[in-house]
Amino acid sequence: MSRTQIVVHPTAELLAAAAAARLVIRLIDRQAVGEIPVFALTGGGTGIAVLEQLAAAPAKDAVDWSRVEIYWGDERFVPAADPERNAGQARTAVLDRLPLDPGRVHEMAASDGEFGDDLDAAAAGYAASLPQAFDVVMLGMGPEGHVASVFPGSPAVRDDRSVVAVRDCPKPPPNRISLTLPTIRTADEVWMLVAGGGKADAVALAVGGAPESELPAAGATGRSVTRWLLDPGAASGLPAGVAPGSGH
Ligand code: 6PG
Repeated sequence: MSRTQIVVHPTAELLAAAAAARLVIRLIDRQAVGEIPVFALTGGGTGIAVLEQLAAAPAKDAVDWSRVEIYWGDERFVPAADPERNAGQARTAVLDRLPLDPGRVHEMAASDGEFGDDLDAAAAGYAASLPQAFDVVMLGMGPEGHVASVFPGSPAVRDDRSVVAVRDCPKPPPNRISLTLPTIRTADEVWMLVAGGGKADAVALAVGGAPESELPAAGATGRSVTRWLLDPGAASGLPAGVAPGSGH
C-alpha cells in the first residue's frame, strides 16, 4: 500500500534544491546496495530547476553517474535541436556535465529522429525501451492536474498502453510522447514537484483522491510512497494539519 508524504518547503527555490539533494541521496543509497538506479525526469520549470540545483550540489559527485539509468516522463515531439525539448533543457541544466554512460540515457525520439515524423512509432519505440520498473519518477503538475503529458479527460488518461502519442496537447507544443499512469505507477516512488498558488486546488484535489480521469495527478502514485514536494503556494489549499511540520 502506497503512503503519501507531504513536504512544504519555504520557497520554490528551496523545493528544487531539496529535491535535488533527495535525488542524490536516493541514487547513493541504491548504488550502495549494488543496484543501478532507474529514474525518470520531468520537463517544466520546476523539474528543470531541480536539475539546475543538482548541478550546484557538491554531493552529486558521490554518485557513480556511469551506473544510473535516466528516462523521461514525457517529451515534446519537436526536432532534437528545438529549445522546447525536455531532454535538451535537462542536458543544458546538468546532464552534459555529468559522467553519464550515454547508453543509459534514454531520450524519447525527436520529430527528426529515428522514427521521422511518425509520432505513434516513436511512442511505441520508447515503450520497447522501458525498464520493468522505476526507482523514482519525478513529475511536475499543471494547474488543472496534468502530469507528464496526460491531461484531464484526454485519451491518454484512459490508455492502458505504457507509452502514448499525445496530439493537440493543451500545453504547447501540441505533439508529445508520454508515459501513461500505469507506467508511472511502476515507480517505487513518485515525486510530485509542485510550486505556485495556481496549483493549490489541483494539489488539494489530487491528495484528496479525485478520480484520475478528471485529475491525472491523483493517479500518479508510487508503489511504496508518493511524495508531494511543495512550496507554500502549492500547499495553500490543503486542509490544516496534513503537513504539520510545515505549518500546514
Ligand atoms: C512538460 C512537462 C509538464 C510539466 C508541467 C508543470 O513537458 O511540459 O512534463 O508535465 O511538468 O506542466 O510545469 P511547470 O513546473 O513549469 O509548472
